Amino acid sequence: MSDINTIESEALKAIDAAGDLAALDAVRVAELGKKGRVSGLMKTLGRMSPEERQEMGPKLNALKNRVAEAVEIRKGALEAAALEAQLATETLDMTLPPRPEHVGALHPVMQVFEEVAAIFGDMGFSVAEGPDIEDDWHNFTALNFPEGHPARETHDTFFMEAPEGGAPKVLRTHTSPVQIRTMTNGKPPIRIIAPGRVYRNDWDATHTPMFHQVEGLVIEKGIHMGHLKGCLIDFVKAFFEVDDVEARFRPHFFPFTEPSAEMDVKYTKDGQTIKIGAGDSWMEILGSGMVHPNVLRNCGIDPDEYQGFAFGMGIDRLAMLKYGMPDLRPYFEADAAWTRHYGFKPWLTPSVSGGLS
Ligand code: PHE
Repeated sequence: MSDINTIESEALKAIDAAGDLAALDAVRVAELGKKGRVSGLMKTLGRMSPEERQEMGPKLNALKNRVAEAVEIRKGALEAAALEAQLATETLDMTLPPRPEHVGALHPVMQVFEEVAAIFGDMGFSVAEGPDIEDDWHNFTALNFPEGHPARETHDTFFMEAPEGGAPKVLRTHTSPVQIRTMTNGKPPIRIIAPGRVYRNDWDATHTPMFHQVEGLVIEKGIHMGHLKGCLIDFVKAFFEVDDVEARFRPHFFPFTEPSAEMDVKYTKDGQTIKIGAGDSWMEILGSGMVHPNVLRNCGIDPDEYQGFAFGMGIDRLAMLKYGMPDLRPYFEADAAWTRHYGFKPWLTPSVSGGLS
């Protein structure tokens, strides 16, 4: 009996004194383990007479339960304390400003995408998308590039590996296939822009194998060249943030538009900086035209009922012009210093009313 009391008071004291989980486990083993003191007492039951056993059995069981319970309680307390300590050392002050070296910046191309979307969004255009890996039909044939037509070659197309017995897919060479996807999936009136990546096998100071375009497409009843001109002149004024812009539409050829025109704007060069709007030189900034009747027919639209215009522009060069970046190559070098210098705050979304840049 005195054994029971001594062991219990000593065990409970040791449990209380255990300062961490390892120390507590050592106490548990010393008392309740196979060779522990409490277990040793339990073993004596076997040697007792039935009467003794009847008296001692419940007492020893109660001892074992009380010690085990004390271990569990202490374990819970130690675990909670350990968690508290961990939380205290790992706290983050979310109100601290970020370190300058960790602040990200929006790439100028992405900024210009946002600006273009804001301007056309204001004119009622929505944004459409298509895949970067296209089939020949969407990239060429439906856009009225006849089989074997030399215009296909000017695109320096990247071809994917052809599946057995099938035609190879291509990396889209322009965003114009999104015109086809939009017209075959929807009905006029249509007013979309399609920003995206395009690919051509070309690599020098002014060309990169991947670059960015924004396509535009308007299909409605009674659309004519005047709408095209007005829309694009308004765009250029808004984009370059100038009140007036002298522009000309110079006849050109694209298989998918008729007539086709490249848009030139006047500019002046002041040292290294270029100012768009007026001046004595012309700069070509985009391709455009009235959607070819064959393209409309290929998409199930009756050209006698609906007309439209389309345009496509290279975003990388527009960004260079607007933000005075002299070289295209750093665009794709992921140089953090360059991005910090030319990049934009990601949370300042451009809007026509709130300011573009
Ligand atoms: N897809 C043409 C290009 O990449 C641009 C363009 C688009 C021209 C739409 C006319 C109309 O060169």
